[in-house]
Amino acid sequence: MNPLSNETLSRKDRTMSDDTRTDSDTYYIRTFGCQMNVHDSERMAGLMAEAGYRAVDDPSRASVILVNTCTVRDKADQKALSDLGRLRQHKKENASVVLAVTGCMAEREQDNLHRIMPEIDLIAGPSQVRNLIPMLGDLKERRRVLLGREYDLPEMTTPPALRGPGVGALVTVQEGCDKACAYCVVPRTRGPERSRPVDAIAREVRELVAAGYREVTLLGQNVNGYGKNASGGESFGDLLRAVDAVEGLRRIRFTTSHPSDMDGAMISAMRECPKVMPHLHLPLQSGSDALLSRMDRGYSLAQYREWIGRLRDAVPDVALTTDLIVGFCGETEEDFEATLRAVEEFRFDGAFCFIYSPRPGTPAHDWADTPPREISVARFRRLEERLDALILEKNQGRIGEIQEILVERVDPDLGRVSGRSPQFRHVRATRQDSRPLPELGEIVGVAVRSCTKAGLEGVIL
Ligand code: SAH
Ligand code: SF4
Ligand code: F3S
Repeated sequence: MNPLSNETLSRKDRTMSDDTRTDSDTYYIRTFGCQMNVHDSERMAGLMAEAGYRAVDDPSRASVILVNTCTVRDKADQKALSDLGRLRQHKKENASVVLAVTGCMAEREQDNLHRIMPEIDLIAGPSQVRNLIPMLGDLKERRRVLLGREYDLPEMTTPPALRGPGVGALVTVQEGCDKACAYCVVPRTRGPERSRPVDAIAREVRELVAAGYREVTLLGQNVNGYGKNASGGESFGDLLRAVDAVEGLRRIRFTTSHPSDMDGAMISAMRECPKVMPHLHLPLQSGSDALLSRMDRGYSLAQYREWIGRLRDAVPDVALTTDLIVGFCGETEEDFEATLRAVEEFRFDGAFCFIYSPRPGTPAHDWADTPPREISVARFRRLEERLDALILEKNQGRIGEIQEILVERVDPDLGRVSGRSPQFRHVRATRQDSRPLPELGEIVGVAVRSCTKAGLEGVIL
């Protein structure tokens, strides 16, 4: 259920093909990683469109191939590299094709990437998105462009019309990370924390609403740390209130929050703002204080528990989802069992579990006490099994209830719609009679009749 953790295809991959003509100014974009990357791809699509390029969904017809990479775990690197291995064939067949690698792996690997794959023309990290068009221009004079870091927070450049279709839009409000979790590469790829001004965000949300979007997801590496380094003095709670005031907007979501950045103002805003949905994604990572400390997470299990208690007192129907890492350095059976106990205690509504993947350049990379792989895999399976059972139980508790969903898909052939409940549960609903189906962006009630661990099913009221 954690949107940030999904290594997904961008909506652009699926939807931005304009037509089937071939000409010299076409681009293909492939996206890996979190929603921040999906959004960066939207920004690049906007810049490319402004510069006169057209999107195609077949890389063999593109004059520019963009691969927007993730590097959070080794698997993410491998996915991007195997994709690049395929895509470079187009470059071999047609030397005029530009092969560009952007995103977090580009930032981390820099020139190494070019050594591995000399066909790559352009290597640019996330902070370089806004320079995409000048960088493409530079390629006409130089064989290869590799730019340095400039960590500002550029304004969103993609007009609503050029974003992916749908009822929900992504809005970056904060970027970068000042924390230093021992396992994590993100501070090295996304730079220090920066926050956009509240009025710029509110303006963007108003434009999105005018263009037909009904939901926004506010994005940040530590979204609830919003405003910490900004001059305006506004907190994340203030931002939620400002976005809540945008007329015509129906729902607000945000991700990812950090336990150390929780505060009372954020919880009050979640309680008092009707558009802010009752869902918090709050990565715990481990239930063992010893491991939390080695991870350098900056909180204890007791502090996490206290925030969850305060949140559940203020917003009783709130859903809580999390991220968990197993097999981190020094994890004993006892530490792992503490994580299992935390899962029983907090009754998460969803969780993403990962096996620790050592990342070059991070403090933990050279620590020698990583558990053997087979032990981590076995723990991972035990954890997933328990989570699946608990989540199914939670979903079963919704049977017989009425859930309000924001319609995100309409399938007239099957007489069915789907969307999310306020708590971010995926809900599929069929019509009871021959009444017309609700439209995209409508909020409708669904009587829940059954469920799986992946979501709820029911009938439209
Ligand atoms: N800023 C967010 C998460 C960003 S990365 C936070 O601090 O919570 C998303 C998730 O990937 C993390 O929550 C963590 O669970 C996982 N992750 C990050 N680095 C990892 C690594 N080296 N190995 C395994 N999982 C990792
Ligand atoms: Fe990575 Fe930790 Fe920053 Fe999250 S808070 S992005 S896990 S360093
Ligand atoms: Fe996101 Fe992956 Fe970068 S998770 S921040 S694209 S390393």
